[in-house]
Amino acid sequence: MDNNKGLLVEERQGEAILVEQQSDNLLGKKVYLESYGCQMNFSDSEIVASIMSKAGFETTRNAEEADVVLLNTCAIRDNAEQRVRKRLTQFQSDKKNNPDKVIGILGCMAERLKSQLLEEEKLVDLVAGPDAYRDLPNLVTEVGTGQKAVNVLLSRDETYAEITPVRLDFNGVSAFISITRGCDNMCSFCVVPFTRGRERSRDPKTIVQEAHDLFEKGYREVTLLGQNVDSYRWNITKKGAIIDDQKEVVNFAQLMQKVADVHPDLRIRFSTSHPKDMSDEVLEVMSKNENICEYIHLPVQSGNSEMLERMNRGYTREWYLNRIASIRKHMPNCGISTDIISGFCGETEEQHQDTLSLMKEVKYDFAYMFYYSERPKTLAARKFEDDIPLVEKKRRLTEVIDLQQQHSLESNTRSVGQVHRVLIEGNSKRSDKDQCGRNTQNVMCVFPKTTFKKGEYVNVRVSDCTAATLIGEIV
Ligand code: 5AD
Ligand code: SF4
Repeated sequence: MDNNKGLLVEERQGEAILVEQQSDNLLGKKVYLESYGCQMNFSDSEIVASIMSKAGFETTRNAEEADVVLLNTCAIRDNAEQRVRKRLTQFQSDKKNNPDKVIGILGCMAERLKSQLLEEEKLVDLVAGPDAYRDLPNLVTEVGTGQKAVNVLLSRDETYAEITPVRLDFNGVSAFISITRGCDNMCSFCVVPFTRGRERSRDPKTIVQEAHDLFEKGYREVTLLGQNVDSYRWNITKKGAIIDDQKEVVNFAQLMQKVADVHPDLRIRFSTSHPKDMSDEVLEVMSKNENICEYIHLPVQSGNSEMLERMNRGYTREWYLNRIASIRKHMPNCGISTDIISGFCGETEEQHQDTLSLMKEVKYDFAYMFYYSERPKTLAARKFEDDIPLVEKKRRLTEVIDLQQQHSLESNTRSVGQVHRVLIEGNSKRSDKDQCGRNTQNVMCVFPKTTFKKGEYVNVRVSDCTAATLIGEIV
């Protein structure tokens, strides 16, 4: 996602901002969308853009000229929410020049705070939770008639399955396809089950069709998205009972195979896997299909089994390491990344050391690392004391980040001298003379521009690297 030139203000899973645009002006009204948080939010914003476009709203990159400003928000950590509050305050003060402008909040923070930001804090005019986007045009109308425009109803079956997202990524090469919504896992630290509701899977036919349409439009990479992709299931209950025996049953491995069959030149990625559910069947499908990228994001959260139990993750350190061993057995060169939380409730120094020792054992290629932020309503907030002082949380996090930095650099250094197949995503962020794209392991490569264009696959010989990027040239 690095080459959304001029659009990507900042990127980091959990804390990203993207400013978006699209076309088809029917009534001359304009909507401005800003997305924060995980890839799922970015994907949802494309559904929102589609719904708004059908209602006559052109998407604009310029908040000032917009009639409706929508912030699609993240509630996963407190600092993510604070940033949104600041941004909303800014929009409220801009509103003095244009009192008719509608300011709305979408996504997880909308769902968590419900009407609070509208009624008490008076920061927004409209609130829509993740399952209420079809109602957005009505809500905008309601604001116009002075009604309380709030819809935070969660659904058991909304997947926006038939809505064709309006692509906001701009590179025209890689796109997200959401395959499940919600989460049933109830990790004790996590607010997502409360903000995104129960887990549900999308009709596989609409997923394959979307991948097909994207390929026809020139896209060459799709990322299948879900809070826990391994629990994707179609026409079968959690307990394994078939719902309609006239219809096909599809699990995640089978879904991936169907998407991989769309075209050999369409690359497949997916996120996020869950260590308790990631099956060998998925690994087999990955190793069998050249166009499924050899990269797995497998959040561990902690390297200590007692902590993992407190976190309600459903696996132990040993189980997790067994999953890593299985990945390496199936795909020795598979890129592996993770999420880590430092300073969760009751974490001792020894338990923190266990996380560092697990990192040394796995040697992740990449990681997203956070210190624990207590979220209201979660199991941890109700049951455990948030007892690690902030300075200590930050100290532990720094150790985790420093170690990961070393590992990322080592991993990239091993690539120096090798030739990697890269899908060109566009010009590099730093210079128009360079292009960039990712290898199968999801590492960004930068190389001097030649006659090859974005959307084409090239072989790049790596000559140098940083902890984050490979540098080389096309051979
Ligand atoms: N505090 C800190 N990090 C969190 N995450 C989820 N909830 C919290 C929290 N309360 C992290 C987890 C998850 C990632 C998306 O965000 O590591 O995998
Ligand atoms: Fe949150 Fe756990 Fe669900 Fe991920 S799997 S969204 S961490 S509850």
